[in-house]
Amino acid sequence: RRPHVLVVGSLNIDHTVVVDELPRPGETVTARRSYRMPGGKGANESVAAARVGADVVFVAAVGDDEQGRSALRSLAELGVDTSWAVERSGALTGTASITVDASGENTIVVDAGANATLAPDALRPEQFEGAAALLLTLEVPDPVMVAAMREAKAHSVPVIFNPSPLRAHDRELVLGTDILVVNEDEFRALASPDGADDTALRRAAEALGVPVVVVTCGSRGVIVVDRTAGAEVAPVPSIAVTALDTTGCGDAFTGALAARLAAGDELSAAVGFATSYAALVATRRGAQASYPDLPTYETWIGSVGSI
Ligand code: RIB
Ligand code: NA
Repeated sequence: RRPHVLVVGSLNIDHTVVVDELPRPGETVTARRSYRMPGGKGANESVAAARVGADVVFVAAVGDDEQGRSALRSLAELGVDTSWAVERSGALTGTASITVDASGENTIVVDAGANATLAPDALRPEQFEGAAALLLTLEVPDPVMVAAMREAKAHSVPVIFNPSPLRAHDRELVLGTDILVVNEDEFRALASPDGADDTALRRAAEALGVPVVVVTCGSRGVIVVDRTAGAEVAPVPSIAVTALDTTGCGDAFTGALAARLAAGDELSAAVGFATSYAALVATRRGAQASYPDLPTYETWIGSVGSI
């Protein structure tokens, strides 16, 4: 079979309200609309990678409830192999309460639920055999991620780590990473660059000890610091869009990046693709519900001009 993208991560049900402005503490505001959709960083990455054409294996934990089962079913309908997902009796499927404002910004409160029970017992060597990449984010506990990372190393599978939502985590996770995907806040928190110029970025990325650091800068595009290519710092511009909902843009970026690497793209080509894919995602509502398939993406990129 073709090399697949392996995701060990979270699955949430997203409860989203759309408001004009994010409420301040103590304030009550009225929603323009609200909806419930599948989300969770691991599930989102899986959907993005599958939409972009990759074979995807998703290892996750859901509760013994209909919401978790139906979220897994819809992932399977999109072609994601969910056969290793575990159902935890007595646990509830994770949820995220999301507020999106008129400019597409959001705030998110996650209740981990069953995601907090994802443990090394869910991992099997077969999941790693022939994988092109392992994707990790910080919505599941460290032990399962550390175990997955070690298994990936044993199978020579590169690890793509997006430390989001950022929290204290096992140092082994960054040290064992091949491609670190961070937004500017995460990069500052992890690497404390002493400036924004190339030298400062390169020095900070080198201090992390990770071969490749990809810093996503929202509408300003992406910066790649590739130590495997002589610590080259390469800016990748984004396509200007009007953002409607940026929820899950980072997950779309990482999933698309992994899918293109799995298909054999060079890093710079894969990053370029993922950057414009995530820009299109920002113009559509929801997290994984906003991830376009390839024909939709190609029509759009044709209409805005290739980067
Ligand atoms: O990254 C976006 C995701 O974060 C949402 O889908 C929500 O579930 C939270 O986990
Ligand atoms: Na979106």
